[in-house]
Amino acid sequence: MAHGLLKGKRGIITGALNDQSIAWKVAELAHAEGAQIVLTNAPVAMRMGEINKLAEAIKAPIIPADATNDADLEKLFTGSMEHFGGKADFVLHSIGMSPNVRKGRTYDDLNYEWYKQTLDISAMSFHRMLQAAAKTDAISDWGSVVALSYIAAQRVFPGYGDMADAKALLESIGRSWGYHLGIKKKIRVNTVSQSPTMTTAGSGIKGFGGFYGFAQEMSPLGNAPAQDCANYCITLFSDLTRYVTMQNLFHDGGFSSSGVTPQVMDKFTVE
Ligand SMILES: NC(=O)c1ccc[n+]([C@@H]2O[C@H](COP(=O)([O-])OP(=O)(O)OC[C@H]3O[C@@H](n4cnc5c(N)ncnc54)[C@H](O)[C@@H]3O)[C@@H](O)[C@H]2O)c1
Repeated sequence: MAHGLLKGKRGIITGALNDQSIAWKVAELAHAEGAQIVLTNAPVAMRMGEINKLAEAIKAPIIPADATNDADLEKLFTGSMEHFGGKADFVLHSIGMSPNVRKGRTYDDLNYEWYKQTLDISAMSFHRMLQAAAKTDAISDWGSVVALSYIAAQRVFPGYGDMADAKALLESIGRSWGYHLGIKKKIRVNTVSQSPTMTTAGSGIKGFGGFYGFAQEMSPLGNAPAQDCANYCITLFSDLTRYVTMQNLFHDGGFSSSGVTPQVMDKFTVE
C-alpha cells in the first residue's frame, strides 16, 4: 500500500541489475510512493538488458555511468537535471564488487591491483558520486543520500575479504560528506547496514549460505529481506527523517546487538 511518501520528489538510483537487486526494489517502491526516477548502472551491466524492464515499468530513463569514472558521473547528474527539469531530492548508492572475492583471493593473499578496484568501485565511487553532485549542484536542499553497507565494516567475517575494508571506507565517506553537504545544503547522508541478502553481489561471496544462515539464527527478527530494506530506504528519502544524518543505520533484524541466541547455543550444547 503506497502512502505518497515521495510525492513530487525526484531521485537517482544506481545498482539495479536484476529483480533481486536491492536497488531494483527501492526503485519500484520509490515510484509507487510518487517519485520520478533516473536509473543508472555500469555500461557492462546494461548489456545484460534486465534494467530495461524496470525502466519501462517505472517510466524512468537510464543514464549509463561507470561509478569509477568522474566524467560519467558528471554526465549522470547534469543529464538527470535536464530530465527532471531541476535537482534530485534523493540518491541511492547501491554498488559493490570485489575482483578478489570473485576470483577467490583470500584476505591474506590479495591481488593489490584488484584491491584498488574493490575500493574504487565499492567505496571511492561514493565519494566520486557526491563530489560530482556537489560540483554540478545536482541535489536539492534537504535532499537525502543513502549508501548500502554491511556489518563486516565493524566485525570480521573472513569470507567477505577486502569488501570489509571497502565498507569501512564507504561508511566513513558517508559521515564526512554528511558533514560537508549538511553545512552547505542541509543534505543528509547515511549508510544502511543490511542483513545478508540473496542477490548477485551477495551470492558471489564464498560460503554465503553460511553467512546467511548464521545471521538468520542470530537475529531476533531474522534476516531483513530486500523488500524491507527498500521500505527503510524510502523512509530515509522521505521528509519524515529530515534530521537523521551521518549515521550508519543497521537494518538487520537485531543481528548487530545480539550476543548469542538459543538456536545458535543449541548447536554447541551437549546434554
Ligand atoms: N546482498 C547482500 O548480502 C548485501 C548485504 C549488505 C549490503 N549489500 C550492498 O548492497 C549493495 C547492492 O548490492 P546487491 O546485493 O543488491 O547486489 P547487485 O549485484 O544486484 O548490485 C550490485 C550493483 O553494483 C553495480 N556495479 C558494479 N560495478 C559498478 C561500476 N563500476 N559502476 C556502476 N555500478 C557498478 C552492478 O552492476 C550491480 O547493479 C552493494 O553495495 C552491496 O555491497 C548487499
